[in-house]
Amino acid sequence: MTQITPIIIHTAFDGHVHLRDGEALRTTVPHIASRFGNGIVMPNLKPAVKTVAEALAYRERILSYVPSGSPFDPLMTLYLTETTGSDELLELAGSEGKVVACKLYPAGATTNSSEGIPDVEKAYGIFEAMERLDIVLCIHGEVTDPSVDVFDKEAVFIDRYLRKIRETFPNLRIVLEHITTKDGVEFVESAGPNTAASITAHHLLFNRNAIFQGGLQPHFYCLPILKRDVHQEVLIRAATGGMGNFFAGTDSAPHPKNLKETSCGCAGCYTAPQSVEMYAEVFDRAGAFDPGQGGVGIGNFEWFMSKTGPTFYRIPVSEGYVTLRKETSEVPPDYPFGESGVVVPLLAGKTIEWKAERILRGGN
Ligand code: DOR
Ligand code: ZN
Repeated sequence: MTQITPIIIHTAFDGHVHLRDGEALRTTVPHIASRFGNGIVMPNLKPAVKTVAEALAYRERILSYVPSGSPFDPLMTLYLTETTGSDELLELAGSEGKVVACKLYPAGATTNSSEGIPDVEKAYGIFEAMERLDIVLCIHGEVTDPSVDVFDKEAVFIDRYLRKIRETFPNLRIVLEHITTKDGVEFVESAGPNTAASITAHHLLFNRNAIFQGGLQPHFYCLPILKRDVHQEVLIRAATGGMGNFFAGTDSAPHPKNLKETSCGCAGCYTAPQSVEMYAEVFDRAGAFDPGQGGVGIGNFEWFMSKTGPTFYRIPVSEGYVTLRKETSEVPPDYPFGESGVVVPLLAGKTIEWKAERILRGGN
């Protein structure tokens, strides 16, 4: 292909990220801020972030680790429970853009979701208040029904719950988080302007073969789980196509190495430090940087990485830029993480074809 470098886009927006808490922030915050100007921060701490006061305190802890040369605006979310009240939602609406959404975890669907919503239909009162207050609803869209095949949990959630939520609350802005299936893409494409979806770099770069290639690969285990290649292809078309409400959301989800490489490993891929490069790789391989070859141009990459998410959340695009050069580098085996552990990034020891760098306005 024709090599067009460097690529320059506005500073990226992470539509879905787990930063964890305490000492872990020393690792996760500089990593995310090295690529992204802002991001939607997930509330599934232990205990979960259930009130605006807790979200604002967590925001301050995150901000205390933001490097001075890389501004990062943490956009906080509240973890919905059956008892989330309209007072809390009113306070969120008045938080001056510091808390921007509520997150629905079906109880038991994923990491630290046990405090979530056991019966989605019983949360309609909360959705009604959110629609009235114009608060974005972020959804982990998988059923928890143990009789449903793990690879079908997203499609079944859409059919069993999401269509009805969409119809009942037409003005509620909904983000179907980290979509992994053709069903997810088709739902978002057909659901109108108040429905969006984030897509991770790992669901674009890999399919479920990666979990089993050469033995069981715990670092490829995440939820929703990687799907068949046919789903991956549809996701790539949605991300690179420049149409619809699809935007980057890394779902970078660090766990200490000893809790990934064990007999019952945690779900989550740590991608924050390489994610922009991974997304670039996807667009490059899809020919999307090369309009002359039938691709669609760098503009679509910029929309997906930096503009579609902020447009949906109605926030400004971050100041400054990210440059990308086609340059090979090796992903480190691990990073220090927490009090005494390490976290293994998804592509540890592998090479990555792109190198991203954040540049602030004014040439810093
Ligand atoms: O793989 C995942 N890890 N999926 C989620 O939904 C949660 C996340 C985490 O917090 O570790
Ligand atoms: Zn997540």
